[in-house]
Amino acid sequence: MAEVLVVGSCNMDLVFYAPRLPVPGETIHGTRFASGFGGKGANQCAAAAKLGAKAAMIGKVGNDTYGEECISNFKALGINADHVTVTGEASTGVGPVTVGEDGNNLLMIIPGANLHLTESDVDAASSLFQSAKVLLCQWEIPPHSTLHALKKAQDAGIFTIFNPAPAPQEKLSLDFFKYSDITCANETEASTMTGLEVTDVESAKVAVLHFLEMGCRIAIITLGKDGCVFASQGLEEPSWVQADKVNAVDTTGAGDSFAGALAFFFAKLPDLPLKEKLRRSCFVASDSVKREGAQKSYSWRRDLPDEVFA
Ligand code: RIB
Repeated sequence: MAEVLVVGSCNMDLVFYAPRLPVPGETIHGTRFASGFGGKGANQCAAAAKLGAKAAMIGKVGNDTYGEECISNFKALGINADHVTVTGEASTGVGPVTVGEDGNNLLMIIPGANLHLTESDVDAASSLFQSAKVLLCQWEIPPHSTLHALKKAQDAGIFTIFNPAPAPQEKLSLDFFKYSDITCANETEASTMTGLEVTDVESAKVAVLHFLEMGCRIAIITLGKDGCVFASQGLEEPSWVQADKVNAVDTTGAGDSFAGALAFFFAKLPDLPLKEKLRRSCFVASDSVKREGAQKSYSWRRDLPDEVFA
């Protein structure tokens, strides 16, 4: 039984803390190293689970220590990991991340086993599609597997959220929008996908309307500390949702925290107006940047104010 189902990536993040981010060709001294559970799919699943959703993950890890640790971590978070399977073809995905003292990061992924998640793996988890209320997908697994999961979910009447992250390197099939109820991108992803430069609230308002013209039903662009902008078919004016000002320590995984929270609110409080779901998701994401790491920076439900869940 799962309310929020995630089909996506599992990584081990290798995090290098430094006074600032290096520029190309430069060597600088870092200050600390840490590892932590990451991967956009796994992060989003962890975020929804820590807020209190029954969550399940469909993913692929390598036959190695990181893979074993990722599966144990899902179980420790109460996530159904029955369909996180192991391949001998590649190592578990890793994400080397450099974090500067201003909380900003520089991030690369070596997807490894994530690229071995197939449509058959998704079909093998059909039972999870029977109970799920919300499906969340990103782009750190093969795009055809993502598209298959979105289509399968929509056929089953499940609400679908597509987070096209990281920014697509190839031309996007408009079918991704056809099978998604919500498309939620950050500035970089939105710029790549719309061909417009998205840097602030005003340019995001233009880009969400462009997303609607491309076929999105609801388009959201997240803007980090500036919150998010959204527009939906039938509602002409884009809206801006502001985020609380916080002191950012590490922004890694903040976008995933937002997406996981949004899935949580759709699954658990479906009658809440969209703008309020987004305001609360911004609150949850802003809370996560106050701490280091991705999944480990996400608060449990018990640590957040009751109003977030009312
Ligand atoms: O969004 C942050 C995540 O992106 C990291 O955890 C890293 O693993 C990459 O997937």
